[in-house]
Amino acid sequence: MAVLQIATQPFADQRPGTSGLRKKVKVFQQPHYLENFVQSIFSAIPDRAGQTLVLGGDGRFYNREAIQTILRMAAANGWGKVIVGRGGLFSTPAVSTVIRARHAHGGIILSASHNAGGPDHDFGIKYNTANGGPAPEKITDTIWAASKTIQGYQTLDSADVDIDQDGEFLLGDMRVEICDPVAEYVELMARIFDFDALRRLLQGPFRMRFDALHAITGPYAHEIFEERLGAPAGTVVNGVPLTDFGGGHPDPNLVYAKSLADHLFAEDAPDFGAASDGDGDRNMILGRQFFVTPSDSLAVLAAHATAIPAYRQGLKGIARSMPTSQAADVVAEALGIAHYETPTGWKFFGNLLDAGKITFCGEESFGTGSDHIREKDGLWAVLAWLSVIADTGQSVADIVTQHWRHFGRHYYTRHDYEELPAEIGEQIIQTIIAQLPVLPGQTLAGRGIITADDFTYTDPIDGSTSTHQGLRLLFADGARLIFRLSGTGTEGATLRIYHEYLEKDTQRQQQDPQRALRDLIRLGRDLARMESLTSRKAPTVIT
Ligand code: G6P
Ligand code: ZN
Repeated sequence: MAVLQIATQPFADQRPGTSGLRKKVKVFQQPHYLENFVQSIFSAIPDRAGQTLVLGGDGRFYNREAIQTILRMAAANGWGKVIVGRGGLFSTPAVSTVIRARHAHGGIILSASHNAGGPDHDFGIKYNTANGGPAPEKITDTIWAASKTIQGYQTLDSADVDIDQDGEFLLGDMRVEICDPVAEYVELMARIFDFDALRRLLQGPFRMRFDALHAITGPYAHEIFEERLGAPAGTVVNGVPLTDFGGGHPDPNLVYAKSLADHLFAEDAPDFGAASDGDGDRNMILGRQFFVTPSDSLAVLAAHATAIPAYRQGLKGIARSMPTSQAADVVAEALGIAHYETPTGWKFFGNLLDAGKITFCGEESFGTGSDHIREKDGLWAVLAWLSVIADTGQSVADIVTQHWRHFGRHYYTRHDYEELPAEIGEQIIQTIIAQLPVLPGQTLAGRGIITADDFTYTDPIDGSTSTHQGLRLLFADGARLIFRLSGTGTEGATLRIYHEYLEKDTQRQQQDPQRALRDLIRLGRDLARMESLTSRKAPTVIT
């Protein structure tokens, strides 16, 4: 099989975002577009010769074609072996698991996470390094730089290979292993959690529903909940991955996982509900008539971590992204362990996890995880919650309200203004930046502002600095108002406004967050000059 050198020209828009390169499928289908980016990734890994790469995706439209292209290019670029999930499938947490378990050099994940799929929607590609985590900025910057100067790429003159049967074969000089995408991940979960205790819970009167939203977690959830833990058939719904996710939006929140939410808020609701996203790294946790915010979820799991066998010795520390509520910090302080605040993006947890500084980490964007891999992990979070329920014998609502009584309740809400024209998004940010110098010392929304800044993070392990990570207003009473532009959208700009304050008075912990936070919400809209700059009267999504 001959190696082909194909001449190409750079595309100007291949800068990786918060989580790899995400574009419309039609953009990826342009001649050479995917190939240019894949070659740019490979160029950023000069020591790839003979090494192992893990490859798979969430099964969205264009997944299978991209797998074939990447296999040919990997063979032509000197990789020693590629491990592919059967059918080209792997959840993001499973890729992280397999990279670590097989000592692979890295992995390529094909997904646009929670973005919609199908010919008119989104596709994405991201590179993970040998620790199993998303490539750090110095690598994604190298990939971007390579994409701007690329002149050609290498591929193999070969036909498509069969990715649907387990086994090994050669493609050129490179070995290809097709494996069960579920098995190694499920074994890891069985080592972390007490599957006997969970089996007793799920085989008793306790009822749960897991909604896979027709995305990648279906096969994993069927195997774990129904096969291994013995939950009744039908516990997992929408469990067959579809290339367009059944036309839905595979984002586990109250808006996009509405049918699950409706089910859990109905009269005869089950005890527990959960959903995951396109590639399986996000999670939403619901109790009967009860929604757990991701920020609270991290804090509650941290407070109960010792109920899980793998964390029985206690946690080393906890990290959260800057816009995530400070609920986990309060738990860390009570436990006498360190807590860290990182920019948005799971990649920023990698160094802390590798250095053994933290055990749990989480983000307001429905991400929770631990040091077991280097990605957030939706099913891990579900199993962790089930473990806490099995251990305490309490309902989700009781566990969380008791947590608030003990630690205080961090009222929290995020308002998203999606698909704004890009220049308007930028204008809003500049409008707020212009006000930052005069805000400290003022009293707004009934609270004194202490600090107003543009968040800069210095990594405590490698000393690297990341600037412009979100605009923060910090109030004297600990409340916060935060603004940032999404780094994961593919259309225009999405402005996110995050609102938070701590309520310690147990008599005042049962309010609707939209009501409890209304002054901060109004202030956020005013500072952003939302009405005059966008004419939008309300956010598109509230979480
Ligand atoms: C992805 C990353 C997360 C991050 C999120 C933020 O899901 O994996 O780590 O929190 O994007 O998205 P945003 O749209 O707010 O930039
Ligand atoms: Zn995801």
